[in-house]
Amino acid sequence: MNFEEELERKTGEAEEVIRGYLPGPEGFQRRVLEAMDYAVSAGGKRLRPLLMRESAALFGDVGEELSCFMAAIEFIHTYSLIHDDLPALDNDDYRRGRKTTHVVYGEDIAVIAGDGLLNYAYETALRAFDKSVTIEDYQRTGLAMKILGRKAGVYGMVGGQCADLLAERPETEVPEEMLLFIHKNKTAALIQAAMTIGAVLAGADEKAVERIERCAENIGVAFQIQDDILDVTGSLEVLGKPTGSDEKNHKLTYVAMHGLEESKRQVEALSEEAVGILKGFPQRNAFLEALVEHLIYREK
Ligand code: IPE
Ligand code: IPE
Ligand code: MG
Ligand code: MG
Ligand code: MG
Repeated sequence: MNFEEELERKTGEAEEVIRGYLPGPEGFQRRVLEAMDYAVSAGGKRLRPLLMRESAALFGDVGEELSCFMAAIEFIHTYSLIHDDLPALDNDDYRRGRKTTHVVYGEDIAVIAGDGLLNYAYETALRAFDKSVTIEDYQRTGLAMKILGRKAGVYGMVGGQCADLLAERPETEVPEEMLLFIHKNKTAALIQAAMTIGAVLAGADEKAVERIERCAENIGVAFQIQDDILDVTGSLEVLGKPTGSDEKNHKLTYVAMHGLEESKRQVEALSEEAVGILKGFPQRNAFLEALVEHLIYREK
């Protein structure tokens, strides 16, 4: 099986896991559940659940616990997209090839659909405790919960989104390190959560988890730089979201600060560093290495 076929198969598997945990629209809260379903079902690359599973595969077998966290991280990611697109933030009308959630359901429902997904994500992740059997299982699930909370919150994704918004209209000159802070937090943090949770659940030791965290930071920063590049060079048809969003919002991006060519070099260098870290483990995951390289040249 070649890489593309394998990627399609594995994405399909992740899709099934996510769908399996998605709540059905019913009751007086039906509308918010519909909006949550609308945003999640629109698809997307499912990169974070994929990275979680592949990182786990590097270290061993994991049971049902992994599925709970795969769905949870995609719910958190999707909530971040719903809120990111709101008029108060990036004000974008397309996402994953569809009208954004607030355009279809209104801003009020979109805000609470984000809240709903965020809370449901933790409810879903906590179900991993029901699947835990041994003391070790419980400990691993507990650590995975801690990582998820930290990396999705103010010391991770939310913190990065805050800096991203502040940098739109800076009161003083923005230092270069703020750009890296934004990329590390708004994007790399969830990718680090995905990969370290996979490793933890599969029983990786502390040292190995640290290496995975560094690897994921490189993947995540490269991923956001490529996102910034595609915002300039891509198209709505291929990306499924509008281009020119960063310029419209005066965003601080790699492309704005360093230009396209240097940004492309950075994506390559960071990704190669990530692959280098993966190759340093005694056990190998060829698909994961190929996935990281594939992301360098992604067009969506
Ligand atoms: C978009 O993430 C937001 C960023 C962090 C750049 P993805 O590019 O992974 O979006 P989907 O999940 O495929 O829609
Ligand atoms: C957002 O970065 C990262 C999130 C935490 C959602 P962007 O604002 O660049 O993401 P897109 O381009 O809208 O997907
Ligand atoms: Mg944004
Ligand atoms: Mg945006
Ligand atoms: Mg973007």
